[in-house]
Amino acid sequence: MRVAIGSDHGGWRLKECIVAYLQEKGIVYRDFGTFSQEAVDYPDFALEVAEAVRSGEYDRGILCCGTGIGVAIAANKVPGIRAALCHDTFSARASREHNDANILTLGERVIGNGLAREIVEVWLQAEFQGGRHARRVEKIAGIEEKYCTKVQKKQLL
Ligand code: RB5
Repeated sequence: MRVAIGSDHGGWRLKECIVAYLQEKGIVYRDFGTFSQEAVDYPDFALEVAEAVRSGEYDRGILCCGTGIGVAIAANKVPGIRAALCHDTFSARASREHNDANILTLGERVIGNGLAREIVEVWLQAEFQGGRHARRVEKIAGIEEKYCTKVQKKQLL
């Protein structure tokens, strides 16, 4: 399991906490930044992590911002990315089992470090259940396909 992680300044402290968790557990990860409280733009970091997951270089991604919303919206623009904003363990598990979420997003201004660690733990351990859920996830890919122009498709190859 290789994890790509990133945040903007609003999620930086929470990212540092999750990085410490990944280190503790011996999970292979790459931290794409940001590395300070200096204001940055969350789409830049969401894009880097999303592309790292899309390319297959990393199996999963974790993104933090103030709310978890901005990074989720941005990451979900990258074809093949299914980013889920989860602030409880039930949703975190379901996002893996039902939606095959490949990026977890979290909001530093919404939840505490303890809950965030539990959510990450559950999310990293849960597996996609396939079956009827696979058909639905394939339909999501179909939506991407429908709105992808021929030119864009060439660029994505
Ligand atoms: C930054 O102030 C904040 O807007 C950002 O971290 C995030 O919450 C956006 O969705």
